[in-house]
Amino acid sequence: MRSAKDFFAPLAVGAPAPLREIPARPSRAIHFFDPSNPKMAAKVPDMVGSVDVLLGNLEDAVKADNKLAARQGLVDIARATPDLGGGRGPTQLWTRVNALDSPWGLDDLTTLVTEIGDRLDVVMVPKVQGAEDIHYVDRLLAQLEAKAGLDRPILVHAILETARGMVNVEEICGASPRMQGLSLGPADLAADRRMKTTRVGGGHPGYLVRQDPVDGDIEGSRPTYQQDLWHYTIARMVDACAMHGIYPYYGPFGDITDVVACEDQFRNAFLLGCVGTWSLHPKQIAIANRVFSPAPEDVAHARRVVEAMGDGTGAVMLDGKMEDDASLKQCLVMVELAEQLAA
Ligand code: GLV
Ligand code: MG
Repeated sequence: MRSAKDFFAPLAVGAPAPLREIPARPSRAIHFFDPSNPKMAAKVPDMVGSVDVLLGNLEDAVKADNKLAARQGLVDIARATPDLGGGRGPTQLWTRVNALDSPWGLDDLTTLVTEIGDRLDVVMVPKVQGAEDIHYVDRLLAQLEAKAGLDRPILVHAILETARGMVNVEEICGASPRMQGLSLGPADLAADRRMKTTRVGGGHPGYLVRQDPVDGDIEGSRPTYQQDLWHYTIARMVDACAMHGIYPYYGPFGDITDVVACEDQFRNAFLLGCVGTWSLHPKQIAIANRVFSPAPEDVAHARRVVEAMGDGTGAVMLDGKMEDDASLKQCLVMVELAEQLAA
């Protein structure tokens, strides 16, 4: 078991050993708020307990003129809301700092760790390009934590939103024992890849397959099926996270009015292995909580398989389906998640 002091050890050359004991705290919905927006900030205390993570966003979506107000607003909110974050209570406190090459990223980290470092659970770092970005944040956090006398390491979450970050996804996951997880950043990633979309997450009506013609079909009348633009990216992110024992997340879904497509995207990500997503509006919290909690009937089935498999080896038939050592492992993932969420 790693102890807090391992986080403060100087970085070894090359990728450090993966962290496998990061706290398995529920983080189905990471709800974003703008700490410079008084209306949003006023709602934060009442949300504690009803959402797994509250994230004070300092980066994109906060106007350049409001960057300092957002940073100070987050300090004020954390101080005024003692049951938020700090490894205690039901709701974690995260922040998304500005990018490391922006005029604000360094001061965001310095101020927040110095002022409210004991309350911050996770720092989300945008536009991560490679392990060097995580090494930089890791060393800076180590210094700031030591200076502030903190004994609990602040964890790091990277947003995958550049082509270079995607190519380096494995090294990013393994770059520090602080790594908690990764989120897909579909809007920036689409721009960086020069995709021809204008949306924040979700599918696209033009990205489709058309069924092969059958005799008598009139051209244009055949059924079409919308494809998932993000399948490759999410699957790749999930593999990299699983290899390093950290957590994958969907990211933003910008069309707040389309709750159906939102739920579909979140569910695809859940089925592929993600543990949570971002919420950009309170109504997305309920969707995320529902989607990223295993369905009771799936948990009940998983428990039946565990029971039927006895010592966990061999094969059994249940409801006409073969279950074996490997399906048992899948069922154990489901049962473990249900137990974590119930704890
Ligand atoms: C999120 O930051 C995104 O770019 O989608
Ligand atoms: Mg972005």
